[in-house]
Amino acid sequence: MATFLLVLFTLTQINRLGIMSAMDVELDLLKESMRIEETDTLAQRIFNTGILEGMECVCVKAGIGKVNAALTAEILILKYDVNAVIYTGVAGGINPELKIGDIIISRRIIHHDFGQITPDGFISWDTLGFFADSFLIDVAVKAANNVKFDSIPQNISKEKSYLPYVKIGCVVTGDQFIASEEKRQWIENTFHADCVEMEGAAVAQVCAINKIPFVIIRSLCDLANEEADLDFEAFVVYAAKNSSLIVKEIIKLLEE
Ligand code: ADE
Repeated sequence: MATFLLVLFTLTQINRLGIMSAMDVELDLLKESMRIEETDTLAQRIFNTGILEGMECVCVKAGIGKVNAALTAEILILKYDVNAVIYTGVAGGINPELKIGDIIISRRIIHHDFGQITPDGFISWDTLGFFADSFLIDVAVKAANNVKFDSIPQNISKEKSYLPYVKIGCVVTGDQFIASEEKRQWIENTFHADCVEMEGAAVAQVCAINKIPFVIIRSLCDLANEEADLDFEAFVVYAAKNSSLIVKEIIKLLEE
């Protein structure tokens, strides 16, 4: 019984939470809600330590891409001693059933650009991928149920009003912004992914190596097709807000 309780305690007790994004627009809402107690610059990025929704957190904009994400995650873990990491941001939709604004809570995360190029095509070397922490996934789902999301902004959306749909799913990562229907289809067929982004698998890999629980929350701001550039510009603020709202609610639930 004591061992069981100890395991439960170690899985659920978060002493200091690392929160990461690639861009300011993905982190600004959280930073605005945070009582920042200390900021320092390390490896050209600003680490904000403070209290968010009652929890000690370190918020950092890592920059775009896997190298930025990996080195920032390692600093969060080694220097700031965070014992859980949440990555929040936007993504391109891969699953054709998903729409702009919809939200993916990561279960499996895979590098889509790690492997071998042969005359017959690409062979992935990331066959297993990485798995997010099941406790953090559960809390994220509960959090998403509590959030009152805005509906998709009508002034810019071609579709009629809808609220974000939330799915636990597969996130794939590569050092490429995908703006091609052909490549979207290839990613869908090869990885059965729900969304594509440029950092998640790097964070997942670093967290797995360090045995730190993590989850990735992504809201779609484009559908990784030829319109992705324009959609990104139009919907990045809306999608970034969807993800941030879930992160705030996750912390509230963890603090209950
Ligand atoms: N992040 C947001 N949209 C993306 C896309 N289409 N490709 C890669 N990363 C993204």
